[in-house]
Amino acid sequence: MPHPVKKAAIVGWPAKHSLSPRLHGFWLHACGIDGGYEAMPTPPENLADLLRDLHIKGFCGVNLTIPHKQAACAIMDSLDETARDIGAVNLVVVGADGSLQGRNTDAYGFTQNLLLSGYVPKNGAALVLGAGGAARAIIYALMKMGLSEIRIANRTIAHAEKLAQDFATPQCRITPVAWQDAEKAQMGIELLVNTTSLGMKGQPELLLSLDALPPTATVNDIIYAPLETPLLAQARARGFAAIDGLGMLLHQARPSFQAFFGHDPEVTQALRDYVLGNTQ
Ligand code: ATR
Repeated sequence: MPHPVKKAAIVGWPAKHSLSPRLHGFWLHACGIDGGYEAMPTPPENLADLLRDLHIKGFCGVNLTIPHKQAACAIMDSLDETARDIGAVNLVVVGADGSLQGRNTDAYGFTQNLLLSGYVPKNGAALVLGAGGAARAIIYALMKMGLSEIRIANRTIAHAEKLAQDFATPQCRITPVAWQDAEKAQMGIELLVNTTSLGMKGQPELLLSLDALPPTATVNDIIYAPLETPLLAQARARGFAAIDGLGMLLHQARPSFQAFFGHDPEVTQALRDYVLGNTQ
């Protein structure tokens, strides 16, 4: 009997512009694996049916993106500890019996990107801009990295308050900050992370002065389109360490590829260039 081709996909709404098929396609080719990875645009009302049918359609798993990550938790048969703690799923692994296990690799991708880009956590404070789904994984990751204080500045302060409540622990002080106080809240921090959509292609710019940021601080924008956001350009021009968001995308995909296709692929400069469309 011929060996069945392993299939996986990215499920989002929209999903058309996702870089994941290109990224996994590069690895499939590099590892010589006879597999497929496609984009499956799926509106929220069809998510549960789509996930339930993955097994009969021959999929070994899928990645989830906006707006499905949080809603998917309730559809899974089980959640790993990280997905449960974060409250969001970005990787669904389909078992041999068709069962669905939800995992989260976003926190891993975020951490790997920062550490491999030279950021060394110093148990100090971080300021996170935004309190959406991405912020949840990042706050979880920062707590695991041992930061002792996380300030969350968000346009809707109630969303920041909810996160502070959800992640409360004695080891880390989590403080909601009003959006207009995001500049003052940079005082004494070692890391600034933008998780809002401000600065993304087609979205308004993030208008934020870095005047109060300590000179040794690192600035990370998780946006990768454009790669050099106005925030990162400002940070670089002022001499701060600046880390772009593409690495988080690439590193969160590694454990997904391993779960789907059984190989641990490498994140290389050639992969970055290919995903950015700099090479065919
Ligand atoms: P993701 O899953 O990528 O985090 P999300 O859950 O939609 O996406 O969250 C988007 C974040 O960007 C939120 O923190 C949002 O602020 P609100 O909680 O007030 O909605 C923030 N955001 C989006 N547009 C913004 C804007 N124009 N100004 C400030 N913050 C904005």
